Amino acid sequence: MSLDPLDLAVLCCLVASVVLYTKKDDIFNFLKGSDSLDSSIGVSSGSSRDLLETVLTNKKDFLILYGSQTGTAEDYCKKFAKELHSKFKELQILCGDLENFDFDQPNTLGDLVDKVKAVVIFMSTYGEGEFPDPCVNFDDYLNNLLESDELKGLPIMIFGLGNSTYEFFNGAAKRLKEKLVDEAGATLLGEIGAGDDSVGNTEEEYVAWKDKAFDIIEKEFGLEGGDSSIFEPMYDYTKFEGKDDVVYKGELNKQYLSANSNKKHIGPFDQSYPYLAPVASSYEICAPESNRNCVHMEFDISGSNIKYETGDHLGIMPQNPQENVKHFLKTLSLNGDEVFDLKLKDLTSSLPFPVPTNIETAITYYLEITGPVSRQMIGQLAQFVPESEEKIKQKIIEISSDPNTFHKEVIEQNLNFSNCLEQISATFAWGDYIPWTFLLETIPTLKPRFYSISSSNLKDQDKIHITAMVENSDPNKKVYGVTTNLLNQIQKREQADQLPIHYNLEGPRSLYQTNSITKLPIFVRKSTFRLPKNPETPIIMIGPGTGVAPFRGFIRDRLIDNPDADMMLFYGCRNAHDHLYKNEWSDEYEPALKNLKVFTAYSRDPNIPKTYVQKLMLDQKDAIMEALMKGAFVYVCGDAGTMAKQVNDTLITIVSDKQNIDITQAQEMMKAMKLNGRYHEDVW
Ligand SMILES: Cc1cc2nc3c(=O)[nH]c(=O)nc-3n(C[C@H](O)[C@H](O)[C@H](O)COP(=O)(O)OP(=O)(O)OC[C@H]3O[C@@H](n4cnc5c(N)ncnc54)[C@H](O)[C@@H]3O)c2cc1C
Ligand SMILES: Cc1cc2nc3c(=O)[nH]c(=O)nc-3n(C[C@H](O)[C@H](O)[C@H](O)COP(=O)(O)O)c2cc1C
Ligand SMILES: *[C@@H]1O[C@H](CO)[C@@H](O)[C@H](O)[C@H]1NC(C)=O
Ligand SMILES: *[C@@H]1O[C@H](CO)[C@@H](O)[C@H](O)[C@H]1NC(C)=O
Ligand SMILES: *[C@@H]1O[C@H](CO)[C@@H](O)[C@H](O)[C@H]1NC(C)=O
Repeated sequence: MSLDPLDLAVLCCLVASVVLYTKKDDIFNFLKGSDSLDSSIGVSSGSSRDLLETVLTNKKDFLILYGSQTGTAEDYCKKFAKELHSKFKELQILCGDLENFDFDQPNTLGDLVDKVKAVVIFMSTYGEGEFPDPCVNFDDYLNNLLESDELKGLPIMIFGLGNSTYEFFNGAAKRLKEKLVDEAGATLLGEIGAGDDSVGNTEEEYVAWKDKAFDIIEKEFGLEGGDSSIFEPMYDYTKFEGKDDVVYKGELNKQYLSANSNKKHIGPFDQSYPYLAPVASSYEICAPESNRNCVHMEFDISGSNIKYETGDHLGIMPQNPQENVKHFLKTLSLNGDEVFDLKLKDLTSSLPFPVPTNIETAITYYLEITGPVSRQMIGQLAQFVPESEEKIKQKIIEISSDPNTFHKEVIEQNLNFSNCLEQISATFAWGDYIPWTFLLETIPTLKPRFYSISSSNLKDQDKIHITAMVENSDPNKKVYGVTTNLLNQIQKREQADQLPIHYNLEGPRSLYQTNSITKLPIFVRKSTFRLPKNPETPIIMIGPGTGVAPFRGFIRDRLIDNPDADMMLFYGCRNAHDHLYKNEWSDEYEPALKNLKVFTAYSRDPNIPKTYVQKLMLDQKDAIMEALMKGAFVYVCGDAGTMAKQVNDTLITIVSDKQNIDITQAQEMMKAMKLNGRYHEDVW
């Protein structure tokens, strides 16, 4: 290969990337921003952040930790702790969030050798095989584990949670093993579990891994195991008869209880203390002909001290629709008004949701009652069915013992939990046998949903915009997205009677309603999806569907800081009817930003052949290559499955073709761009 100027550019790029590679951690930390480091301060007061101290004071001898972003790893970790406790009564288990402990001492884990029997870690993966955001400190700790035998004699077990449509499948769990075992000398017991969301087998993988883990623990530590499937409550359940004003009616934080109702909320706001943001405005983006709904919503954050940056994510805490709550209460013959309190049996564990509260509130605001059903949970029901109901017991066992049967009869049918009970038997009095304490401990808690912010902190300082596609399009599936239908009802409140499901927009004690303004509990989560620092740097944005959301923010940024910037936006949708922000691009942004070029691919327009963004990118390969050579940053947002991969492949093809280099070299170049922070993905 002779070195013409272009090859030289590629080479320079590669050299730069190698230099930068060695500094990757610095860059990573820099990209994370300093704010994310502060998030670790939000721990429950009173408990120690010192891991060894917590182990010793509470006389624990078995450690189970998790790193989780949206709570899946947390759910599985807690489930494991519970099952392990039921099986091996003599183990003194400490189960906790990695975020809640300090990892600033180099020997934090090393000190545990001989103090605990083993450390089990549940870890989910994000980004490019990275740890979830709350694990920044733990990540630093691992990178500083220098001595090769620091963890010698410390048995560890790892269960990873991931999604195989991503390139770095369970990358975080793998890295955990590399650092702890290969480098620091800990002993890996068993194999790394690798949960895979994409094929919905996280639960199956967990069950298989857990069974092996139990065998190993039994042998390794000479224990005798009982039956872990028998339900044993983690909390002491009591009826609550105190004053009503301390009873939670859906408030997500103590700060919102009646006693504090006149208080001004100044944050800092996060998932456990969200901000009740007024919905300043909202509108439907799709035309009626599209048969789809996409809600544009603007939240007012003035006076809240909330700061966001263009490219961040907004977390929204949803509630369940009234119809589903009723269905659940009815199927399980629950008395929604029963007020109860929970007390921890083990002080190192934590409550699933704020208490005292009543059953209806817990079902409406705190539990995920509509989502996919867990096979293990259905299996556990058998223990509550009396011997006299042999048929029902049989049916439960039949449906839950084989993963394939369960998948076919429950998951593929989109059944929710109460549906599933009805399917097993519509006449059996489930409520007479299944204790509420089992349900409240076993059903996962309701999690926030995230949306890419579609506004700009430069242009829209006091507002946060989101762009949410409503999950209601398939009438046969009968699955309605919990959060998006809530947003849809707020937007279409005048026509609420035409909507399939309904929410209590007033919220707990009318907290979400002031005059005619509706509020929702929100919080901002930092992302690494950032425009280049230099506003002159060209950018190439690829965001079909709601993947366009953060790019609307980017473009609004450029209206303020550099209207001359070179920008390409590749957008895609079905046809003109679901063309998001169609008029904004043509009437506002394109006229104001003279070097913005928007390319739109229609995939279902009867008048033109099916077109996806990749095709338009190939059409623009000269312009793309030119921008890349000028140092352009590339951003991909939206569907992580096929889209992100095909876009990557397309870019590789373009580079290889235009630079006349082979595919491997083009791949190297794209890799280098990624390491340089010039290729960003925000995919879900
Ligand atoms: C970082 C990030 C950014 C995001 N940005 C955006 C954005 O800008 N815009 C946007 O529209 N979305 C975005 N999303 C997706 C968004 O967070 C939500 O996942 C989406 O809106 C659906 O939420 P929901 O509560 O309405 O649906 P959910 O109730 O969570 O349901 C989601 C899906 O789960 C399945 N499901 C539910 N119940 C069952 C059942 N019983 N059986 C089988 N399957 C079931 C169905 O397929 C259903 O459609 C983003 C996600 C992430 C992680
Ligand atoms: C934005 C995003 C990025 C992700 N990146 C990866 C990845 O690179 N590799 C992987 O195996 N899984 C990836 N996943 C899947 C998650 O790890 C998986 O859904 C996991 O169950 C989440 O666990 P948590 O709720 O505890 O955070 C990603 C998920 C999301 C939403
Ligand atoms: C379960 O699904 C059915 C029908 O799809 C619905 O009527 C019911 O309200 C749902 N129940 C819950 C608890 O989500
Ligand atoms: C796994 O990732 C793909 C691609 O983003 C996504 O379509 C799918 O919904 C994910 N699976 C789950 C269960 O989150
Ligand atoms: C693009 O694909 C190549 C291999 O085909 C891979 O090495 C690279 O990491 C991918 N990049 C992204 C951003 O997915």
